[in-house]
Amino acid sequence: MARRIAVTGLKGGCGRTTVAVNLAAALALRGNKTLLVDLDPQASATLSLGARPGRQEATVYELALGLEKNLARAVVPTPARDLHLVPSALRLFGAELELAEEPDRAKKLSALLAKLEEGYSIVIVDCPANFGLLTLNALCACPEALAPIHGSYLSMAAVEGLMEVVEAVNGELGPTTSLMGLIPNMIDKRMGGQGALIKKIEEKYGKSLVRSRIRLDAKLPEAAAAGKPIQIFAPKSNAAYDFEILADDISVL
Ligand SMILES: Nc1ncnc2c1ncn2[C@@H]1O[C@H](COP(=O)(O)OP(=O)(O)OP(=O)(O)O)[C@@H](O)[C@H]1O
Ligand SMILES: [Mg+2]
Repeated sequence: MARRIAVTGLKGGCGRTTVAVNLAAALALRGNKTLLVDLDPQASATLSLGARPGRQEATVYELALGLEKNLARAVVPTPARDLHLVPSALRLFGAELELAEEPDRAKKLSALLAKLEEGYSIVIVDCPANFGLLTLNALCACPEALAPIHGSYLSMAAVEGLMEVVEAVNGELGPTTSLMGLIPNMIDKRMGGQGALIKKIEEKYGKSLVRSRIRLDAKLPEAAAAGKPIQIFAPKSNAAYDFEILADDISVL
């Protein structure tokens, strides 16, 4: 079985997609066969890797709902060697409603990954901003979860909320996910107070839960707009460096 990691979090725009795409690319460029599953109907990860959601006939939606039996049709190459993508598309929004009545509605992704993950050593799932059925599927499918926390919103309340959600999911559906990392993101030295907040979180939850941080770097949105991971778009940038350190950090867990 591949190592499965969900990238989740409580707030919109906290950097889930940026972390999912660039961590996946950093791990893949080291020779780990990596599969990134875009589980967000916004399809930001799909766009960030240069794929066009509207053009893709087979996406995670068709696979999860069993509408496309040939799974390979929804696995596309990316600009990073050894990183493949299962794209998303806007119609994934409908899955929440279409699956609502099904008894195994939270286990669709898990069942899909069991078939898809052969040949990969790592699977990373980019989750949407809410805790609906799609995120529930990701948490059921992935034993590990990472949550970026936006530098300017770093707060105990956000972390506590996340812990509660993971606990509730585990209670309902059997032990599935453990949160193995909070990733302080968009860290900017000029903004006071971020260091103190990280320290508070470390004191409360343990230092080992807080992973290496990603600095604020304008190259990240530029890389996403160009459809390339940061390691390829700007290999000498601060962000490329930070993602290498994060990949080291995740590799030894
Ligand atoms: N460290 C960073 N430095 C600069 N910009 C960043 C950084 N991290 C993320 N961004 C930018 O912030 C925006 C939001 O990031 P991202 O899309 O990764 O967040 P998200 O949590 O996936 O958002 P959504 O709720 O839309 O899924 C994007 O434009 C992204 O390029
Ligand atoms: Mg996102």
